[in-house]
Amino acid sequence: MKFSTRAIHVGAARDPQTGAVVPPIAVASTYVQPGAGQWGTFDYARSGNPTRHQVETTLASLEAGCGGLAFASGMAAIHCVTMLLQSGDHILAGADIYGGTYRLFHKIINRAGINVSLADSTDIDSFAAHITPRTRLIWIETPGNPRMSITDIAACAELAHRHGALLGVDNTFATPALTRPLELGADIVMHSATKYLGGHSDLLGGALVVRERDLQQQLYFIQNATGAVLAPFDAFLLSRGLKTLDLRVRAQSATALQLAQWLTTDPRVTRVLYPGLPQHPGHALASRQMDRAFGAMLSVELQGDFSVAKRVVEATRLFQLAVSLGAVESLIEQPAAMSHASYDAADRARHGIADTLIRLSVGLEDVTDLQQDIAQALQAATS
Ligand SMILES: Cc1ncc(COP(=O)(O)O)c(C=O)c1O
Repeated sequence: MKFSTRAIHVGAARDPQTGAVVPPIAVASTYVQPGAGQWGTFDYARSGNPTRHQVETTLASLEAGCGGLAFASGMAAIHCVTMLLQSGDHILAGADIYGGTYRLFHKIINRAGINVSLADSTDIDSFAAHITPRTRLIWIETPGNPRMSITDIAACAELAHRHGALLGVDNTFATPALTRPLELGADIVMHSATKYLGGHSDLLGGALVVRERDLQQQLYFIQNATGAVLAPFDAFLLSRGLKTLDLRVRAQSATALQLAQWLTTDPRVTRVLYPGLPQHPGHALASRQMDRAFGAMLSVELQGDFSVAKRVVEATRLFQLAVSLGAVESLIEQPAAMSHASYDAADRARHGIADTLIRLSVGLEDVTDLQQDIAQALQAATS
């Protein structure tokens, strides 16, 4: 079955008792066992739940993995991966990553003696120079957040495996509709399901999908032992969102491309960061690695200073000023003050997260309305 068919049918078996085409949400926290010390399919909701299992099955199919794990948030999913590591181990992370991931790596897991290096993952040779004998995990995002940098997943997988490390890819921006990292050699793919997978700004969730059974079992053991699982109602919403993922991502990407092209003509914009533009340094790679579209996230650098960018993000009306992304409604934010405020200022400067950068999550509204909204905000902020 093709991707959009699997998004609707895999994992979503009709209810055998009633024939309902949407299985009921399973809310029980515990399950009667056949006997003391004997286990049925489900026993306790932290260890497994039918509604969560349904969405994990769909996610595994969409990401071409052997199994999926659904978490209470994207951060819980990333944290679970880091718990594979031990004191003294090293993570090599791409520099263009979500601010919360930066914070987890630099301000939480470092307390357990895990070292992290942040480096430009778009240049594989200079990236490779940061590998150490203790590197156990390479962690990347592509497109990166917030600079929309494009990283070669297959090259990173080869690099990781040559050094006995795992490759984890945060696929939140691209989604499996456009990029399937496990098919390119990654070991773990991760999502903030809060974003495109859910798609409607009404759930918080995370996911891991893994290529090999043994690794999935290790991660399941950690998830069950630590407990940050996705709740049944959120699992239901996520299942519902996945059914329209392909449609939404392609429509939103088409609008993002149009807006990106238009923004390049505005003299108040110094740079448009969107991999669908031929002048983007990662365009050729993105054309190979992404499936016929470049995603619906774009960033722009503006003339002026922090306060100009602040005024622009505060002046849009359809683009709502909020962190998060990937839903049907368009959002706007200033990474230096919002999604990437957790970066140390020096790291922001070193990795090109300028004060004048604004990030747009393009929704499903009409493109002319969105264009007019940006035009009036630029006018209001700069006049
Ligand atoms: C790329 C990316 N990864 C991970 C996360 C963290 O996910 P969550 O907010 O669901 O914990 C986010 C959240 O914004 C994100 O944008």
